[in-house]
Amino acid sequence: METLPAFDLVLFGGTGDLATRKLIPALYRRELAGQLSDEARIIGVARAALSTKAYIDDLEQALRDRLGSDEWDPTVWTRLKQRLSYLAVDVQQPEAYQRLARELRDDSAIQRVFFLSLSPELFVDIVHNLEAAGVATSNAKLVLEKPIGHDFASATATSDEVARVFPEERIYRIDHFLGKETVQNLLALRFANTLFEPLWNRKWVDNIQITLAEQTGVDERGGFYDRTGALRDMIQSHGLQLLCIVAMEQPVSLDPTALRNEKLKVLRSLRPMRGTQAIENSVRGQYRAGAIAGQPVKGYSEEPGVATDSRTETFIALRAWLDNWRWAGVPFYLRSGKRMARKETEIAINFREVPHQIFHDPLYGSRPNRIILRLQPERGVQLDMWMKPPGDAMVLRKAPLDLDFAETDGGRALDAYERLLSDIFRGRQTLFVRRDELEAAWAWIDPIRAAWEQLSDEPRPYMAGTWGPAASSALLARDGTAWHEES
Ligand code: BG6
Repeated sequence: METLPAFDLVLFGGTGDLATRKLIPALYRRELAGQLSDEARIIGVARAALSTKAYIDDLEQALRDRLGSDEWDPTVWTRLKQRLSYLAVDVQQPEAYQRLARELRDDSAIQRVFFLSLSPELFVDIVHNLEAAGVATSNAKLVLEKPIGHDFASATATSDEVARVFPEERIYRIDHFLGKETVQNLLALRFANTLFEPLWNRKWVDNIQITLAEQTGVDERGGFYDRTGALRDMIQSHGLQLLCIVAMEQPVSLDPTALRNEKLKVLRSLRPMRGTQAIENSVRGQYRAGAIAGQPVKGYSEEPGVATDSRTETFIALRAWLDNWRWAGVPFYLRSGKRMARKETEIAINFREVPHQIFHDPLYGSRPNRIILRLQPERGVQLDMWMKPPGDAMVLRKAPLDLDFAETDGGRALDAYERLLSDIFRGRQTLFVRRDELEAAWAWIDPIRAAWEQLSDEPRPYMAGTWGPAASSALLARDGTAWHEES
């Protein structure tokens, strides 16, 4: 397997959740695969006064908990830990960056990757401080974790400041959903097969549903989440990125400019939703106490860090339209929620009914075909077709054709962050969000939020462990359809 180019990776937020749960395990797996060059170094940066040894011990513990015994290999860890060091830094203190400068190698062949996985309010200060310390050299890349801004104005202001130091070709905005296996496979399904593309339009597709359902609540992130809500946390980023991949035109290549141009066109064709239109086409919910997997769980307003009278939505369902030739008149339903019945991330493409039905079976009134792209927990593609089972009776039954990636791909599927980190080191920007995409997404989201605020739209309660408020089903029922799990 190809060795990744040499790097000094600086993890701002090095003791945080993302670093310990995702980034270090991803680097461990690249180490296991033998892909890290002898010249790869990782510097964790955070405020805590820790020694490198204590930092490494904490990471080892977190890694062992996460990996399980089959993946844990002490020799791999020994190799990885030799690359690790820790720097206690108050990122708002410019002087502290001189210490960072001394840690970085002064070699143009070794790229510097500054990975910012901490509060977005700190992004601009950090970038300024990197510049002032002279470490934002021409071999330096900047990686930004979402959320970038909390609305169009703040995202633009952040981008303006960041752009003064880093050119767009060296900025990697992460939406980790783009690194997921099924998203790559959606590109393959659409653009490596002739079968589906002729059907992938308003003539044959009745509606498209994107579901990002989680069983988890807000855990320790109550304070952050209460200022954010599901629309900004999930739809602005992951939901709209999936919508782009499913709805875009064929890019001429997988080149970052070609692919991102097509995604941008989708974002710009989203019909704006303002005022009462936003209210009519959206449903907000907030979970109340309930049960998940038979265990009682708290309501949202009882979670730590959440205001007791919070009006933040933990569930959102939207009906959106793309005003373009391919999709005119086809509703796109998006929903996302915490504390839902199960973890389920999927895209369902519901095709139209046959133009004239000759089979009459009272059990099955409507029989459209459907493609379900499952991102998680299972990964795969399911195609629902109708066939006649053996026997005398002329009846039809649903015959799903199932492609389970776990079984068919032979190799191990990469975690999203493994793929994304590798792409950063190799300088491939295709799976990262460009500035104009980010701004187009916020430009569509902002009026929806403004409408909720102006019209005092309250989130509707739903019980933890369910599929959200009843109004979410009603949103689709108005169009004579239903969410995938209800149909
Ligand atoms: C993050 C959100 O971007 O994605 C979280 O901030 C959410 O609220 C997470 O839980 C979901 O990611 P995944 O990969 O676990 O589905």
